[in-house]
Amino acid sequence: MSNKARKAAFADLAKHKKRLSGTTMREMFAHDPDRFASYSARFGDMLLDYSKNRIDSQSMKALFELAREVDIEGRRDAMWSGEAINVTENRAVLHMALRYFGNSPVMVDGKDVMADVREVLQRIKGFSEAVRTGEIRGNRGDQFTDVVNIGIGGSDLGPVMVTLALEPYTRPDLRAHYVSNVDGAHMADTLKALDPAKTLFVIASKTFTTDETMTNAHTARKWLAEALGEAAVNDHFAAVSTNIEGCQNFGIREDRIFGFWDWVGGRYSVWSAIGLPVAIAVGYDNFEAFLRGAGEMDEHFRTAPLEENLPVIMGLLGVWYRNAWGFATHAVLPYDQRLSRFPAYLQQQDMESNGKSVTLNGKDVAWETGPIIWGEPGTNGQHAFYQLIHQGTSVIPCDFLLAVKPHENLPPHHAKLVANCLAQSEALMLGKTEDEVMADLKGTGLSRSQIKALLPHKVFPGNRPSNTLVYEKLDPATLGKLVALYEHKVFVQGTIWNINSYDQWGVELGKQLAKALLTKVEGSEGSEGHDSSTRGLLAHFHNLKG
Ligand code: F6P
Repeated sequence: MSNKARKAAFADLAKHKKRLSGTTMREMFAHDPDRFASYSARFGDMLLDYSKNRIDSQSMKALFELAREVDIEGRRDAMWSGEAINVTENRAVLHMALRYFGNSPVMVDGKDVMADVREVLQRIKGFSEAVRTGEIRGNRGDQFTDVVNIGIGGSDLGPVMVTLALEPYTRPDLRAHYVSNVDGAHMADTLKALDPAKTLFVIASKTFTTDETMTNAHTARKWLAEALGEAAVNDHFAAVSTNIEGCQNFGIREDRIFGFWDWVGGRYSVWSAIGLPVAIAVGYDNFEAFLRGAGEMDEHFRTAPLEENLPVIMGLLGVWYRNAWGFATHAVLPYDQRLSRFPAYLQQQDMESNGKSVTLNGKDVAWETGPIIWGEPGTNGQHAFYQLIHQGTSVIPCDFLLAVKPHENLPPHHAKLVANCLAQSEALMLGKTEDEVMADLKGTGLSRSQIKALLPHKVFPGNRPSNTLVYEKLDPATLGKLVALYEHKVFVQGTIWNINSYDQWGVELGKQLAKALLTKVEGSEGSEGHDSSTRGLLAHFHNLKG
């Protein structure tokens, strides 16, 4: 589809928006008792209720037409066939192969990659089980009690998020920690309570050159060597990378290096050996269940008709709000405390993927692309930022996530959690009219003038959109499905926006400038050549530092 045709399609969506602008969702629900049935989709136990959106059958038809016009299915098949759809890096995008347990070959550059994938998986299994049973120990013979993953971005956010989400599957005597920030506080606070003799480090870096990770890795190595001697590095370090030579140069022994491949993007790498700390923390079988769950979602994405395809529906709704309504942000609100890092994980997955402003062929995009993704778990968010979602001047489409069954038997907690989640999407959709507020205020003893003054503050505009995703239980397979669902949603949107969702050149400039500024911060060079703001900040820094 040409860029001109895309512009025309977005203009057509804007017409649908205009048509719908005069109708509220409250009215739509009142007129159509079957609205939920018309606008909900299922995949296994997972239900996507998207009926509380500003949509009707015509606008959805236009969105599915757009999906067909940009050839979502063809692009999806191109990705799965190993085509180098990451055009700026000339790479295939095949994280789906990491969770594929079928028998067909998965080809990259004329080679079936599945044998390598399975070999590394077997090594993850062997190593994680040996750490968990104590067959693999520290150099003084102690069983490992703590695993510290050192990585950042995709080499951190995925495993952190998954480990937290799968807490019920972890063991109290084997804890996983994650150090990412180059701020020494992160490393110091993590190591404070740890016993070097019982600590295993995993250095996770696709490139094995990322400054934060290398700095943290050297600090960890020094800490360990000071306590146990240099020789202990051999037994206390493992590494995960595509840069095997870099791992070897650091001194990681061969059998503790776990490889992956350049066709796995950093933010799509939790399914690779980057998931090693997860496998250690929750056990290999649970890690594999997580992969298999994602594999099931892949199959759904690859085979379900667009109108029933959860990632396609969610992707299209995001496009609808971004390109027809101009909504700039999207909130992800898990009513599932263990998904507390899911919004942060999605920030990288979505914003590093679709935060682009040139098309695949290098032209400036003439439409909005990726939204700002943010969120926190409910019910906490209700007592923080929900005020703005209900009554602020910005409209923020939300995703509510909810498990039917908790892991805990602690009534009445879960019933209250569920009630709150359902109440929020209902309140956002319905709002509260002047008449309803008036009815509440009558009989409170307030005077007419007091009621008049208070009334506008108590009105809720409503008509605020949301999706609700309900699943049976946050188990490893469900988590895999959820993560893959959002990955494919990002793919759908990137395809519609005609951008490369698989590079991230935007992170480079800051890295380069930080390198150039280091000598000036350390004081070995003056700040000449920088702008007056940077010079002023450096001067203030040196003045206070003394
Ligand atoms: O921030 C840019 C980035 O390249 C991410 O895409 C990546 O996940 C992260 O840095 C870490 O990179 P690496 O795994 O190579 O250390």
